[in-house]
Amino acid sequence: MPGLLRINNAGIIFAKQIKMKISKTISLLMIVFAGLQSCYYDVEEELYPSSGGCDTANITLANKVKPILQGQCYACHSAANAGATGAGINVETYTNLKAQVDNGKLLKSIKHESGASAMPKGSSSKMDACEIMIIEKWVSKGAPNN
Ligand code: HEC
Repeated sequence: MPGLLRINNAGIIFAKQIKMKISKTISLLMIVFAGLQSCYYDVEEELYPSSGGCDTANITLANKVKPILQGQCYACHSAANAGATGAGINVETYTNLKAQVDNGKLLKSIKHESGASAMPKGSSSKMDACEIMIIEKWVSKGAPNN
């Protein structure tokens, strides 16, 4: 019996040591994982403004957003064309464009999300990722008339 007790004690101590090792390893893994995650977010935030060579600095309606809309949307959604080909939606004037921003359809349509028809209509593919990013950035700043 005394022998068995000794083995049991040794076993308990051994088990405790293993437990401590496991919990130390888990803590270490958690620290490493947390570290990696914060790195990941730092890098993503740093990269975002120039993601994939896309220049999203100093975006205004006039300098970046309008030229994109002009090239890809006015064929149907200009003041002149809206009635005939754009279902009456005219994104040429600020007020009308802002209305499409505020009802959420401008972004949904160009990002091909549910809740709006995919735009530009007639094209099977989305707009260039950089163009979408530029419009998103402008919208995220409150879609100013600048
Ligand atoms: C070839 C013509 C055409 C082009 C180009 C086009 N649209 Fe449209 N758009 C339409 C038509 C037609 C509708 C009406 C809804 C439908 O038929 O799908 C529409 C609807 C919309 C709507 C409302 C969507 C809804 O579900 O209510 C938005 C917003 C829109 N277009 C934005 C754009 C933007 C931004 C572009 C450029 C990136 C663009 N459209 C390019 C024809 C066009």
